[in-house]
Amino acid sequence: MANNIYLIGFMGVGKSAVAKELHKKLALPLIEMDQEIVDRQGMEISEIFAQHGEAFFRDLESGLICEIAKGDGAIVSCGGGAVLRKENVDLMQQSGMVVLLTAKPETILNRVKGFSHRPLLEGKMNVDAIRELMEQRKPAYEDACQYVVTTDGRRPAEIADGIIALRELHVDA
Ligand code: S3P
Repeated sequence: MANNIYLIGFMGVGKSAVAKELHKKLALPLIEMDQEIVDRQGMEISEIFAQHGEAFFRDLESGLICEIAKGDGAIVSCGGGAVLRKENVDLMQQSGMVVLLTAKPETILNRVKGFSHRPLLEGKMNVDAIRELMEQRKPAYEDACQYVVTTDGRRPAEIADGIIALRELHVDA
């Protein structure tokens, strides 16, 4: 079975920062899904949403997961909505371990408020709106993951060490 590590979770939960640490510590290739899509399209995520719509972006995301799932041994930082399609989740679970990163809405707001590249948070930079979208997403995240790791008040390197310990158990299982 393939041994990718998929990091899933809400926007701003720290997937990219933790993936970078895992990449350094494990010396495995890093795939940053959003960045890969931006590079391939030559457009920012917000432009893709504005010009082609969310469904088009989701198709790009699914296509990329299909490719990634054929490979082995990568650290994959998934877009926050990558678990919204069951076929994506099936591919992740078949090709590696799926780790959900979580954080409180207050923590998320602190992490995302200075950035404008997330179209789904446009006009929603407040705790209530973030909490509402998180609640909607919660079942999808919980169904998709095999492990849950909280990130509030923790450094990416420390979180990565915890995931490496889980990976040893996962590989042995
Ligand atoms: C999205 C999350 C974003 C990006 C897009 C949609 C989502 O990724 O894929 O803006 O639906 O949650 P990050 O979670 O890396 O911010």
